[in-house]
Amino acid sequence: MKYKKSFAISILTALFLSANAQKEATLLVNTQKAVAPIAPTMWGVFFEDINLGADGGIYAELVKNRSFEFSKPLMGWSVKGKKFGEGDVLVQNRQELQISNPRFLRLNIKQAAKGDAGITNEGFRGMGIKKDIRYDFSLMYRQLRGNVTLHLELVDDKNNVIGIGTLKPNATNDDWNKQQASLVAIATVEKAKLNIWFEGNGLIDLDMVSLFPSDTWKERPGGMRKDMIQMLADMKPGFIRFPGGCIVEGIDLANRYQWKKTIGPIEDRQLIMNRWNVEFGHRPTPDYFQTFGLGFYEYFQLAEDIGAEPLPILNCGMACQYNTGEVVPLDQLGPYIQDALDLIEFANGDATTEWGKKRIAMGHKEPFNLKYLGVGNENWGPQYIERAKLFKDKIKEKYPNIQLIYSSGTDPDSERYHFLDKQLRSIGADIIDEHYYRSPDWFLKNAARYDSFDRKGPKIFAGEYAAHVDGKITGSNRNIWQAAIAEAAFMTGLERNAEVVTMASYAPLFAHGEGWQWAPDLIWVNNLTVYGTPNYEVQKMFSVNKGTHVLNANLNGKPLTGENGLYASSVIDENKKEIIVKVVNTSGEAKKQTLSFEGNKKLASQVSITSISADLNDKNAFDKPRNIYPKEEKVKINGKNLNLSIPANGVAMVKVAYK
Ligand code: AHR
Repeated sequence: MKYKKSFAISILTALFLSANAQKEATLLVNTQKAVAPIAPTMWGVFFEDINLGADGGIYAELVKNRSFEFSKPLMGWSVKGKKFGEGDVLVQNRQELQISNPRFLRLNIKQAAKGDAGITNEGFRGMGIKKDIRYDFSLMYRQLRGNVTLHLELVDDKNNVIGIGTLKPNATNDDWNKQQASLVAIATVEKAKLNIWFEGNGLIDLDMVSLFPSDTWKERPGGMRKDMIQMLADMKPGFIRFPGGCIVEGIDLANRYQWKKTIGPIEDRQLIMNRWNVEFGHRPTPDYFQTFGLGFYEYFQLAEDIGAEPLPILNCGMACQYNTGEVVPLDQLGPYIQDALDLIEFANGDATTEWGKKRIAMGHKEPFNLKYLGVGNENWGPQYIERAKLFKDKIKEKYPNIQLIYSSGTDPDSERYHFLDKQLRSIGADIIDEHYYRSPDWFLKNAARYDSFDRKGPKIFAGEYAAHVDGKITGSNRNIWQAAIAEAAFMTGLERNAEVVTMASYAPLFAHGEGWQWAPDLIWVNNLTVYGTPNYEVQKMFSVNKGTHVLNANLNGKPLTGENGLYASSVIDENKKEIIVKVVNTSGEAKKQTLSFEGNKKLASQVSITSISADLNDKNAFDKPRNIYPKEEKVKINGKNLNLSIPANGVAMVKVAYK
């Protein structure tokens, strides 16, 4: 009897222990109690004109150096034909008569037939031309005498003509005129060129020689490349940060980004050298300039188009500290702060305001509802804090509701970072911008970085990040799955800490296969096509499935932050009525993980599981753009429990609807 009793007790104990062990091995998702709201801005995009991101990228202009303002005024152009003699092709400079666009081309045409006298533009690594698409050619001209006809030709790399058009100037006088003609392409060519042949006799000046496809984003004339913008729209980003990045700071202050010079008629937008032209000795890009055809108005419009909050970053009176570190004396910072105040008025002001009126004149009556503004990019030191405080005082005095974002430098762990973080907290910063370009290992080790951050302090903007694999790997080869899965693991930590981290963006965004300076990048393009990297698929998965509130998802009472190579986060979307769990398995073995959805929500009987997995060295490429791509399956769920299989080196996202 005694024996029997103790036997019964041991069975009970064993049952209890095994039930507990089972419970311990279960990832418990508490669907009942939201931990914190997730900001609608949580996942966004970082845009900078780097890697031919704007000129030669989303800005669909096909003519390179259209206004002859590059340092070498005929860069991108060649002159051809036997009828051009000495002095017949001249770059003239109006200097102070037209400071923002002083140069133009003067051509003396003497009894020329088609093919006798012409100029050719090579485009940005060639021009991407698509069959059956209309191309709109335009220019500003001044026909001083005679009668000249312009024959337009698109040609492929073997000089086969793939599109023709004619432009006959309407006017012969001393004024600048604008005129347009169209061509329809009969073939698709990745690296076409534009010939302009001059026929007749005359003296003619040319400027702003331009060619745009008609199939731009939203079919806007002079607009953006549709395929590239679609990639952004597909991410449903919560914000778009612009215009950078380092181009905000400039090599020196003269080279900084000045938004006021990027609005209004495009012929008056003063071009500057893009700092990425000379930044890296091993990736020189001598033909990289910022024409600002894509300026602040267009960025705001883009933000609106894709449903993202506009998030401009402005120069704070400091040039890049890796380059010159030039600063504006504190008592001369006024114009820089005024630029910030005027930008808010440009975005939000009505017709009674000076800058609001300018926005309305450009075609946008309604305000852009600017809510966020960045003060400086990757600036540091006491000199930054002094300037940041002055910006803060003046901006908050006039616009207390604008959320200001401040830089914490370039390094998330250094003395420099801790100094800035402390100082910014002490001045009551709204949002602190952290940047990390680190090894995959750093990302894995930092999945719990924000667990200990003060919930009541400033919010965090993970403003630029990317896992950088071994420096010996270059270009798009750096966008391998090893980097993307490390980012995914880290992002579960951002999501779990959405109470503190309210914005995050991978950087940089775009790279041209033949025109890049910095890699890895989120999206790679050539003149005709575009593909998303595995990193893009990860970003999109988080962004499109961001939810409205964080849920606790615990194993053994703690979040999963790397135990056995597993990382997890969970959210609820109260609008779509969905619970979403993301589990990342960074180990080389497939894993089984039981999930239990705790609480009294009535779950659907079927869940969707989207997974991405690959070998760590795998990547996407122009010829295999979807080599690494999410796969979705539907499975039945047994009550509240789900036995989830997560592939080796894989990400699995579970989505279940509830009532
Ligand atoms: O994203 C590329 C560069 O990295 C950005 O311009 C700069 O902010 C950072 O150093």
